[in-house]
Amino acid sequence: MRRKLAAGNWKMNGLRADLTQLATLAEQRGDDVDVLICLPATLIGSCAGLPIAIGGQDCHMATHGAHTGDVSAAMLADVGATHVITGHSECRTDHHETDAIVAAKSRAAHDAGLITIICIGETLAQREAGTTLDVIDAQLAGSVPHCATADNTVIAYEPIWAIGTGKVPTTDQIAQVHAHIHARLIARFADGADFGILYGGSVKGDNAAAIFAVPHVTGALVGGASLKAVDFTPIIAALAAS
Ligand code: PGA
Repeated sequence: MRRKLAAGNWKMNGLRADLTQLATLAEQRGDDVDVLICLPATLIGSCAGLPIAIGGQDCHMATHGAHTGDVSAAMLADVGATHVITGHSECRTDHHETDAIVAAKSRAAHDAGLITIICIGETLAQREAGTTLDVIDAQLAGSVPHCATADNTVIAYEPIWAIGTGKVPTTDQIAQVHAHIHARLIARFADGADFGILYGGSVKGDNAAAIFAVPHVTGALVGGASLKAVDFTPIIAALAAS
């Protein structure tokens, strides 16, 4: 059975002293819930031995070479990461990442043995124009590489207007997009029905249970509320209870 995933994304936050949060979170793992924290690359190597899954937040598409400031998927795996986020909207915007770049990074991550969390989602203007599902289709087709399987890939639906804003789609809106992603994955991949599909964007302790009750939501990608164990713990508990 596919396990549920509570994934935290610390973004550009956290020093070594903040890693004390992780031991508390590890206690929250349930029989069918995995807890993952995607850390700044500087912190990953300091987590060896902690009973929690650790991920990176981005990787380069090449295995090595002259790419000042970048980190390869093999480097993340070498210091203990099991997962990496690819195509987060902040990377797509800040670093002008295209779907093709996201697909190449995801392939590189799979080659290094990492599980990718591939992020997709519409802007507010796209939602208001009624093109959300078209945007999702284009991003799924362009960002998810052919080597994706339910074992090496998780999709995260993150409406850009919900990230860090406190605005959350209605459960009907989430249900529509998640059902659509699920159907598209089934149409393209032999094991498409088994892919995990996370929701991300302003998930908090007080809205988590309603979001996890939506069909085809198998977990969450959580930014702000993952920074402190006291905020992340109720989200993990809501996922375990769902
Ligand atoms: P947020 O971020 O939970 O702070 O909205 C989610 C994300 O960007 O993954």
